[in-house]
Amino acid sequence: MHRIVNVVGVGGSSRPESTAEQALRVVLDAAQQRGASVQLISGPSLAMPLYDPRQGATAPQARRLLSAIAGADGLVLASPAYHGGISGLVKNALDHVEELREDRRPYLSERAVGCVAVAHGWQGAVSTLAALRDVTHALRGWPTPLGAAINTSAARFSPAGTCKDTHVQGQLEEIAAQVVEFASARALAASRTESAR
Ligand SMILES: Cc1cc2nc3c(=O)[nH]c(=O)nc-3n(C[C@H](O)[C@H](O)[C@H](O)COP(=O)(O)O)c2cc1C
Repeated sequence: MHRIVNVVGVGGSSRPESTAEQALRVVLDAAQQRGASVQLISGPSLAMPLYDPRQGATAPQARRLLSAIAGADGLVLASPAYHGGISGLVKNALDHVEELREDRRPYLSERAVGCVAVAHGWQGAVSTLAALRDVTHALRGWPTPLGAAINTSAARFSPAGTCKDTHVQGQLEEIAAQVVEFASARALAASRTESAR
């Protein structure tokens, strides 16, 4: 039995419609076109107190984020490069995933994670993409084979919600395809295991 898979996008910056958020929206739109239901957690929704393991996730934004991630079949992470790495806003949100360590699927396990980095140059874009993929590994997620390192001095987004650079647009759509394909395969395998019981 096929069911609709749920893809959650997390990222952006405190600026609404930031470049990272626009890139994230492109991936989520493409995932939706492939039949997924999608949810975006970006901008102000990511503004939460610094993660403190002694306190857990107390802020409503943190609880909403964790609930969305716990229910996701696949994820997309997007961060701007801040001084060569993931922005504090995005990293702090990801630090909260520690609270899912005892979840049915701990951390990001069993899920494909598409990673997207945006920067004003190639060096920051590439190092931030590598950092996002490292964090995904650390959280037991499966980074998709393709990630996107976007140099915003060369690739811009249109108000219509696509990237004007067709190569980048294609990369973002391919990331969506890989997340949805993995999520759908896992969902199908899980339903077969369930019905065999
Ligand atoms: C605090 C700060 C640090 C940044 N550090 C870098 C950097 O190390 N390398 C880089 O290429 N761009 C850097 N940038 C530029 C952003 O990554 C770039 O403008 C990005 O496109 C902005 O994304 P946004 O529109 O999603 O906020 C920095 C920007 C800020 C505000």
